[in-house]
Amino acid sequence: MTTLKVLGSAAGGGFPQWNCNCRNCDGVRQGTLRATPRTQSSIALGDAHQNWIVVNASPDILAQLRATPALQPARAPRDTGIAAVLLMDAQIDHVTGLLMLREHRQPLPVYASAAVLSDLSTAFPLTRMLSHYCGLDTRALALDGTAFSIPPLQDVALTAIPLESKAPPYSPSRNARRLGDNIGLRIVDRKSGRRAFYAPGLARIEPHVFDEMGAADVVLVDGTCWHDDEMKDLGFSAKTAADMGHLAQSGPGGMIETLDQLPATRKVLIHINNTNPILDEDSPQRRELDAHGIEVAYDGMEIAL
Ligand code: MLT
Ligand code: MN
Ligand code: ZN
Repeated sequence: MTTLKVLGSAAGGGFPQWNCNCRNCDGVRQGTLRATPRTQSSIALGDAHQNWIVVNASPDILAQLRATPALQPARAPRDTGIAAVLLMDAQIDHVTGLLMLREHRQPLPVYASAAVLSDLSTAFPLTRMLSHYCGLDTRALALDGTAFSIPPLQDVALTAIPLESKAPPYSPSRNARRLGDNIGLRIVDRKSGRRAFYAPGLARIEPHVFDEMGAADVVLVDGTCWHDDEMKDLGFSAKTAADMGHLAQSGPGGMIETLDQLPATRKVLIHINNTNPILDEDSPQRRELDAHGIEVAYDGMEIAL
């Protein structure tokens, strides 16, 4: 059995975000809103033998590891359950945690697309910086639909699915998209045959992405914004969710409409921005999700595959 564990369910900034006083951030800080704080975007895949793949290395990874003893099995004076890190993109909320893992005892295996590895060796030179600490053992992911395994987790078959979202603002490919800037992940447990699809950044439901979602038992997809103009309306940004590479949930062509068409047994929104009204458990938007059978990921959520 493969265990999928949500380490961090918020988008960049987390919830509450340090400098934000929006209704959600202020409300959760003051305790006047029924909502749960969330750390920044990461999941982990574990086998029955204390081995884990961390998918996205969040800036909050140390707090996430403290909250998740299973990832620290303590079999030796210095130990970790983390066998490798796998990256969906080179966004700050998905890669900065690599710096926090610098005490690793050997080069840390990192699986990412060539485009992401290129950003991490140039614009955000984590590979060079970390070569002075544990070092990163980088592996470029195939983007042609070939399944792969990450040792020693032999029972989980992974496939990188290139998709449309956005490279980070610091990347030279922010406005000149390269294949592999963003991927989704097909996760199949070889024993049970159960399948999940994870895509925390998803700008558009391309036909091959719709097929992936349709074939999965569990989908965990982009839950960043409820409304495309959410950040603009609050005066926080000139950008729409789409400008940032995220498909909003509401309205025609929104994520809810797509999720409604899927046979998946679990439909879960993840990578939730702190401005999103679905974080307020008493909001009409949250009730609307309930009515559609759509769940909102939270830190510590566990799904068995
Ligand atoms: C995004 O996906 O757009 C990010 O959460 C941005 C960030 O890391 O600040
Ligand atoms: Mn993000
Ligand atoms: Zn906020």
